[in-house]
Amino acid sequence: MKADLLIRGIAQLVTAEGPGPKHGAAMRQLKVVEQAALAIADGTILWVGPEADWDGDAEATVDAQHRAVVTGLVDPHTHAVWAGDRLADFEARISGVPYERILASGGGIWSTIRATAATSPDDLLALAKPRIDSLLRSGATVIEVKSGYGFKPEAEIVMLQVIRDLAARTPARIVPTLLIHVPPKNASERAAYVSDVCQSLIPEAARQKLAEAVDVFVEKEAWSAVEAETMLTCAQQHGVAIKLHTEQFNRVGGFELGLRLGALSVDHLEACSAEQVATMADSPTIATILPGVSLHLGLPPAPGRALIDAGAAVAVGTDLNPGSSPLFSAAMALALAVRLNGLTAQEALVAGTVNATCALGFSNAGRIEPGLPADFLVLQGSDWRELVYTLGSNPVREVWIRGERVAP
Ligand code: NIG
Ligand code: FE
Repeated sequence: MKADLLIRGIAQLVTAEGPGPKHGAAMRQLKVVEQAALAIADGTILWVGPEADWDGDAEATVDAQHRAVVTGLVDPHTHAVWAGDRLADFEARISGVPYERILASGGGIWSTIRATAATSPDDLLALAKPRIDSLLRSGATVIEVKSGYGFKPEAEIVMLQVIRDLAARTPARIVPTLLIHVPPKNASERAAYVSDVCQSLIPEAARQKLAEAVDVFVEKEAWSAVEAETMLTCAQQHGVAIKLHTEQFNRVGGFELGLRLGALSVDHLEACSAEQVATMADSPTIATILPGVSLHLGLPPAPGRALIDAGAAVAVGTDLNPGSSPLFSAAMALALAVRLNGLTAQEALVAGTVNATCALGFSNAGRIEPGLPADFLVLQGSDWRELVYTLGSNPVREVWIRGERVAP
């Protein structure tokens, strides 16, 4: 075997096994190889195994110096493009004003929509780039980014174009999602907005190939399940996958809709009932939990432990956004999922790699396996569990994408 590069001296090489949704959540487990090596050719993983078993040639060798190597993380849920800040909201919430009340009174998401509308695409790009850099530095090699602060259909297209331009400026793989976030405040305008989304926004996003999925925020203060169904089925008719923000504060039918329509993922789930958890057993829909929101808004955490015990496939995301989760670290999201949602360290890494990849609708990432892109992290220490143990300093020493060291 002829490799461009051999990474040797790996104390532990950790990857998930079991590729796609069809294999079932229970199939996806961690595999740890001790004293390992990793061979790379053309940015792709050529071989992986115990170092003593390598008998190929490598043009170059890097010594990992007895550190752990794990699969590059996949952040399946971010809102990394926004302008303005939500510091006034934050102060109000700390003094007891609920998030939903701030939203209902025209602040919250609406204030970010106003600030985003007042910012040029170039400035939005310049604001978003360091956020992506920060996620990358924390270990994310694949990052989903949603629109949703445009509100006006033309502004949503601009947001998606900014996300496309962002993708060209980072080595991370950026996965764009069109988010239909909040409805017009005037109830009489909702039906016209839904038909605009279906007649022009979704077709235009699909035509320009600007979104890999359409997401709808289903909630008392946002869209109803009936309105969401119209927009999500329209997305599917245009060949675009779907996902939902749902069961964040209230149960208004989004969860059941997502499962019925075959959504890639249902995200949030803080308000999920035990009965709903049971219906996710063996579902191909991924349950994406967002512990940064529970921490920042003081919401009850999503029932991650119960979901896994019921046989659901759980993914973890940062939900990086200014209002509900100013969390700029994918590794920290996993660390929080262990503390707040009751995942084991092993489950958290599966949730942040292979399951998160499924939540984005593909299977050629999230694992260290011959034939897949050589996306991996060299950790600071020799035990991979420091990835989810460490709080407040970066457990990730180096980030490699397609066989190139991209950070630091
Ligand atoms: O995932 N819940 C709705 N959307 C975002 C928050 C957006 C915001 O507050 O700006 C979320 O929590
Ligand atoms: Fe979100």
